[in-house]
Amino acid sequence: MKKAVYPGSFDPITLGHTNIIRRAAAVCDNLTVCVMVNSDKNYMFSTEERLDFAKRSVKDFKNVTVECFDGLLADFMQHTGCNVIIKGLRTTDDFNFEVQMDRINKKLYGKLETIFLAADPELLHVSSTVAREMIRYGRGVEDYLPPEIVEIINTDKCLGGNNDGWER
Ligand code: PNS
Repeated sequence: MKKAVYPGSFDPITLGHTNIIRRAAAVCDNLTVCVMVNSDKNYMFSTEERLDFAKRSVKDFKNVTVECFDGLLADFMQHTGCNVIIKGLRTTDDFNFEVQMDRINKKLYGKLETIFLAADPELLHVSSTVAREMIRYGRGVEDYLPPEIVEIINTDKCLGGNNDGWER
């Protein structure tokens, strides 16, 4: 497989995402991680931060690049001349949703195919949602985020400050 795109919100990028990136990059020549906008979501991190975190997390992967796109995934694929989308699946809910997305994307651009990679069983509990909760409440994110991002979160007092719900 020549080229593939792994799209997502990456709010923030997690160890689950980097696991999918590593496995997808092993079976294609070039993988583009596309930091996108999901209009249903209010993001904790700005587009610039999500992009920066993703770039730092994949810096050691030789055939992976990171881009950012605010628009339809099908349009990004068509503009970049790539037909293969990579999606990671953790739950049956993910599967049911992503099968619909596959259908919608195909209707928008008929050449598209989505390849699903099942999450590594050891990372099934890892999600951006859980990582954000840990950050909000000042708990460690070492089990959820790549080390490069943990370092940033831990030194950013705005995000990693003590917020355990108790008034002091
Ligand atoms: O990490 P997420 O939030 O599950 O990623 C979802 C994402 C960003 C890949 C998806 O919302 C998306 O493709 N957004 C771009 C707009 C689009 O193409 N929507 C599909 C038609 S409804």
